[in-house]
Amino acid sequence: MTYPKITILGIFVADMAFRADRQPKIGETLIGRDFALGPGGKGSNQSVAAGRAGADVTFLTRLGKDPFADMASAIWTEAGVTGNIRSGPGSYTGAAYIFVDDQSGDNAIIVCPGAAMEIAPGDIAAWEREVTGADIFMTQLEQPIDSAVSALRMARDAGVRTIFNPAPAAPLPDEIWPLCDFVTPNETEASDLTGVKVTSLDTARAAADRLLELGASTALITLGESGVLVHRDGQSEHVPAMIHAPVVDTTGAGDAFNGAFATALGEGQSVIDATRFGCAAAGIAVTRSGTAQSMASRAEIEDALAR
Ligand code: RIB
Repeated sequence: MTYPKITILGIFVADMAFRADRQPKIGETLIGRDFALGPGGKGSNQSVAAGRAGADVTFLTRLGKDPFADMASAIWTEAGVTGNIRSGPGSYTGAAYIFVDDQSGDNAIIVCPGAAMEIAPGDIAAWEREVTGADIFMTQLEQPIDSAVSALRMARDAGVRTIFNPAPAAPLPDEIWPLCDFVTPNETEASDLTGVKVTSLDTARAAADRLLELGASTALITLGESGVLVHRDGQSEHVPAMIHAPVVDTTGAGDAFNGAFATALGEGQSVIDATRFGCAAAGIAVTRSGTAQSMASRAEIEDALAR
């Protein structure tokens, strides 16, 4: 079997996850239920997800030189991800505060990208071989937007298929959408990016229509426990979620989906089969605590698909 070559641009941060009944108010101190420190950052999580799902992954980022950077190396080595790292003087590796609701497993996040905020179009030029030599290129929005645009354009110009996960949502230049073969917002991001409040399959379809009007080729709107809407050329298909155990922590579910979807797509699976593969991976990730550590192996995904 040949493994699809996937290049991902994004950030690594150390996730500090606090489980509690609710978030504190300003001026209040709460006693939490649990704490964990582990590897995170959307691009790195997607790389780990793709690596465990069976892809040959190169991850492009900037890190500081500190213990959090060592944490990045450890998880990439374990998942078979090749890190292509640039670093500058004095920058720190980023961190995220993650509140996990103890009842629902839902999350709220503040992320400080640290050194990865310095990723610039000049870095993308230096990574040309990695971007143009891939089967699939994927990025998000935790690093500066101009670097995402440069890399998507470089990939597109070289005929590399592109996946853009617009997370977190931000005001974007119009030029970005025609560079996207696939755009994969969740319902919050789709709402913010299109102005259509996504609360159902019908509203997801309306938001997806808007993303296609803007220039994206295919929109996949991830809808949490309601699965994923795949929308292209006036055709819509709903792929249900695949969750076979109680939900513990939803942090990183979108990353699990994107990493596994990219892998299956790179293997030549159809868009719908790749979406099912992504849903199976996300359905496993939400039954475990943590982000990068919760990503499923290939065998686990295949087992979930067979159930
Ligand atoms: O998508 C989840 C990720 O978003 C977390 O790992 C956190 O680091 C933030 O970047």
